[in-house]
Amino acid sequence: MKVKEIASHIGRLLREAFGKGPQSIFVNISRPFIVIYLRNFLSPTEKILLQQNITQENQNKSKLLQAEKLTAVGQLAASIAHEIRNPLTSLKGFIHLIEQAVSGVSKSYFEIMKDELKRIELITSELLYLAKPQAQEFKDEHIGQIIQDVILLMGSQALMNNVELRTSRLENLPVVHCVGAQLKQVFINLIKNAMEAMPDGGAIDIVASRPSADMIVIQVRDEGKGISGIPQELISKIGSPFYTTKENGKGLGMMATQQIIFYHKGTLEISSREGEGTTIHIALPAL
Ligand SMILES: Nc1ncnc2c1ncn2[C@@H]1O[C@H](COP(=O)(O)OP(=O)(O)O)[C@@H](O)[C@H]1O
Ligand SMILES: [Mg+2]
Repeated sequence: MKVKEIASHIGRLLREAFGKGPQSIFVNISRPFIVIYLRNFLSPTEKILLQQNITQENQNKSKLLQAEKLTAVGQLAASIAHEIRNPLTSLKGFIHLIEQAVSGVSKSYFEIMKDELKRIELITSELLYLAKPQAQEFKDEHIGQIIQDVILLMGSQALMNNVELRTSRLENLPVVHCVGAQLKQVFINLIKNAMEAMPDGGAIDIVASRPSADMIVIQVRDEGKGISGIPQELISKIGSPFYTTKENGKGLGMMATQQIIFYHKGTLEISSREGEGTTIHIALPAL
C-alpha cells in the first residue's frame, strides 16, 4: 500500500471514530512519523495536549531510531578498529627498527610517520569505545570519584589552555552501575569539547544534582566564547558519525559518548545559547 493510501485510511478511520465532518482531520505520513492534524473540533487546550502527545511520540520514535543506528554503526566501527590495531602495532615496531638501522633518510620523515600512526591509533581507540560494553564488566562505582579522577587527569591540559575546571556538589554522590573506564571516557570527551569551544580560555563547570533518589544528573557547562554556542539547527547533528565543525576534528567523540550513555541506560541532552555557551546534561540511573 502506498504511503498516501495509508494516510487516507487512517484519516477515514479517525473521522469515523470522531464522527466529525471530513474537513476536520488530516493525516500526513513522512517517515518515520505520522502527523495527524485535527482542525476545528477540539477546544484550543485539547488541541495543544494532543499535539504534545504526538510530539512526545515523535521524539520517542526518533530516539529509538537513533539508538538502532548507534548500535549498528558502533558494532561495525568497533570491529574495524579491532582489526586495524594488530597490523598497526607491527608497523610501529618495524618503523622503530628501520629508524635505528638506516642513515641518510631525513629524521623528519620518521617523525611524520610516527605522528600519523599515533593519529590512526587515537582514532581506533575512539572507535573501540563504540562497541557494546558487554565484554567489559559493569561494577558499582562512585560517580563522584570517577569525575574527580577525570578532573585530575585533565587538570594540566586545562591549565595549559587557560581553562578553569570547577566542580560543585560532587560530595556524597551515589553509586552507579557502570563500566568506570567508559564513563571516564564520556567526561574526558565532554571536557575536551568544552575546552576546544573556548580557545581563549574560560571556565568549565561540572555540576551534579539528584532530581530523584534513583537518578543522578551531571551537567558539563562551558562558556563557549570561541564559537558562541551551537546554532539550534546544528544541535541534532551532533553525535552523527564523523560530524565535526573543527579543522582537525574526527567527529566521533559525541557519538561514542552517546553510545556509552545509551548502554548505561542513561540520557544525554545538549543545550546551547548563542554567546553564552553549551551545557551537556547527562542523566544516569543511580543505586
Ligand atoms: N561544548 C561544545 N561547544 C560547542 N560545540 C560543541 C561542543 N561539543 C560538541 N560540539 C560540536 O559537536 C561537534 C562534534 O563533536 P565531537 O563528536 O566531539 O567531534 P570533534 O570534537 O572531533 O569535532 C564538534 O565539532 C562541535 O561542532
Ligand atoms: Mg570532540
